[in-house]
Amino acid sequence: MTATPETDHIRIFDTTLRDGEQSPGASMTLEEKLQIAEILDDMGVDIIEAGFPIASNGDFEAVGEIAKRSKNSVIAGLARAIHADIDRCGEAVKHAGKGRIHTFVSTSPIHLKFQMNKTEDQVMEIITDTVTRSRNLIDDVEWSAMDATRTPIDYLCRCVEAAIKCGATTINLPDTVGYATPDEYKAMFEDIRERVPNSDQAIFSVHCHDDLGLAVANSLAGVAGGARQIECTINGLGERAGNAALEEIVMAIRTRGDVLQYATQIDPQFMVRASKMVAGASGFAVQYNKAIVGKNAFAHESGIHQDGMLKNAETYEIMRPEDVGVKATSLVMGKHSGRHAFRDKLRELGFELGDKALQDAFRRFKELADRKKHVYDEDIEALVEDEITILGESTKVIALTVIAGTGGPQKAILTMDVNGQHITKEATGDGPVDATFNAIKAIVPHEATLSLYQVHAVTEGTDAQAEVSVRLEAEGRIATGKGADTDTLVASARAYVSAMNKLALRQQTDNPGALQAV
Ligand code: KIV
Ligand code: ZN
Repeated sequence: MTATPETDHIRIFDTTLRDGEQSPGASMTLEEKLQIAEILDDMGVDIIEAGFPIASNGDFEAVGEIAKRSKNSVIAGLARAIHADIDRCGEAVKHAGKGRIHTFVSTSPIHLKFQMNKTEDQVMEIITDTVTRSRNLIDDVEWSAMDATRTPIDYLCRCVEAAIKCGATTINLPDTVGYATPDEYKAMFEDIRERVPNSDQAIFSVHCHDDLGLAVANSLAGVAGGARQIECTINGLGERAGNAALEEIVMAIRTRGDVLQYATQIDPQFMVRASKMVAGASGFAVQYNKAIVGKNAFAHESGIHQDGMLKNAETYEIMRPEDVGVKATSLVMGKHSGRHAFRDKLRELGFELGDKALQDAFRRFKELADRKKHVYDEDIEALVEDEITILGESTKVIALTVIAGTGGPQKAILTMDVNGQHITKEATGDGPVDATFNAIKAIVPHEATLSLYQVHAVTEGTDAQAEVSVRLEAEGRIATGKGADTDTLVASARAYVSAMNKLALRQQTDNPGALQAV
């Protein structure tokens, strides 16, 4: 088929805020979701799946708020094949300029037998009923056949035909368990499109999980089979091994236009920022050698490579780092820089802060410049992201002194602001981090357990800022917090308190009557 603007446009459906957020521990606050949705919208994502509105009040609120603020993207919400889910989803997306209900049901024999305990005919009835109900609420309806790649093709054809007949405008055929190979996945789309009589009335969509590391390859194979929508996530965040990574798909299509004759409307300049934002909000750090957005994706260490790069970048580079928003590490102003220059720097880095946040960030920048020899863009980014988190929090770290070393026991003396009141407590622990966290617990008693503690250096050198991620779990809820400081223990305390605040907030939004304390 010859590519034409109509046939070669690939819709990018980003599900970072739904499938991505479903990975255990990746849950995000409303503020984080709004920021991510904004950058996805600016980046040119065609459809943003903003959440699963029936899952909790917090999810419903987030989808509704993203819908209200959306500029160009279609805002989708997920709904199981249940009336209450569909109605709640319709309610949440109705404020969007362009809203979509995405409803799904399992179609594979193993899911029908063990998960649903239903016959094929019963599931067919469910499809007819739920797609019709969705279509009565909104014009844009996506239907997904969960576990499509393990569904017998004849039955899948009948399901797809019924969904289109009842008004589904997009048909998504997910590789839910990441089992398919590229050839199989391509053939499935070709078969379905050929055999289903009304297949020309819907857009076909791919949705691939990465259990065998084939998610991106499968997505592109599905497109070769006729799909024109790709469901993916920033950094490949998602259930188990994750979903297909948006940045890899988009850059593969851009870089290999000679063989992949399609186009997306994504502006790749936003990729690195979006990646950092999602890593920060989810607490899932990006591996150094991750394609496109990993720290080393454009680093050339070996002598032969460096020599080639100096002569001509194309010897070893198939994409230019600046195309995906990688900036050369640049030295920022020093301690004599003024507020004006600082605000300009923030704008250049893409941050627009209100007066109070700017004032606090500027104060912390000055403190940092006093302590650290070189302040880089990455330092400013970490500091500002930390500041944005702290702003909305009711509990904050004010001062911390830790006594550590071989003598033991390690001791922390901590002062915190708890709803405007300063409280100081001391605690000992098995190491300085444990002592610090025990001091937090002494000030704000809670039952949450620590499930992740991770430290990484923002830049090089022993005076680098430490960026700490902490994940806490309580009553089946999970929250991840981040903190940055040149002092690893201060960063750890901030990260812990941030996770604690998020957990408390989540308990409140999921259950407005719940106690404030974690
Ligand atoms: O992986 C999957 O099958 C899904 C569906 C809900 C689309 O995420
Ligand atoms: Zn999925």
